[in-house]
Amino acid sequence: MRRAAPIGAVFVALSAAGFAVFAQSESDEGFVDGLSFLGEPVTAADIAAGQALYAENCASCHGAELEGQPDWRRRLDTGRMPAPPHDDTGHTWHHSDRNLFIVTKGGVGAGVPGYESDMPAFEGVLTDDEIADVLAYIKSTWPDRQRKVQAEVSANDKGDL
Ligand code: HEC
Repeated sequence: MRRAAPIGAVFVALSAAGFAVFAQSESDEGFVDGLSFLGEPVTAADIAAGQALYAENCASCHGAELEGQPDWRRRLDTGRMPAPPHDDTGHTWHHSDRNLFIVTKGGVGAGVPGYESDMPAFEGVLTDDEIADVLAYIKSTWPDRQRKVQAEVSANDKGDL
């Protein structure tokens, strides 16, 4: 109940000020500068949701700090690869948005018959929106240089995996 007055006041202020101010307040609402996923702008709320989903679904292998598994470049005794870091020390930022989305949804073996990998497919576990949020969170942790390089890779992605 205590909230009713301020929220009402905001509505009155917005309708009095008109659409231009409303549109402006939308873009102040938390879109993160220079960050998009598959061409869609990303909000601070998307990143917060993605961070929680990451902790639940990815951190056990890729590390709570996105640091990957120890000695991640060396093949395991099983012949499979360990989980690489998702921070700027790994190679996640070498891949386009589309590629990261396909790998997360379908698993690393997606489209590569016979390739065995410990990376699970998240189709049926996470929705497409949730996958986008997790990847937006990962992207949000990269420094400027990695973000710029990855944005170019995404822009140049002509659709081949
Ligand atoms: C059970 C362990 C495990 C979990 C959980 C897991 N991964 Fe992975 N992931 C791996 C492994 C292992 C690889 C490397 C696979 C390979 O090269 O065969 C990998 C690779 C990847 C890659 C390719 C990275 C690159 O740099 O090429 C992406 C993207 C990825 N994972 C995203 C995710 C996301 C997002 C989640 C959570 C939603 C997640 N993974 C959860 C084990 C896991």
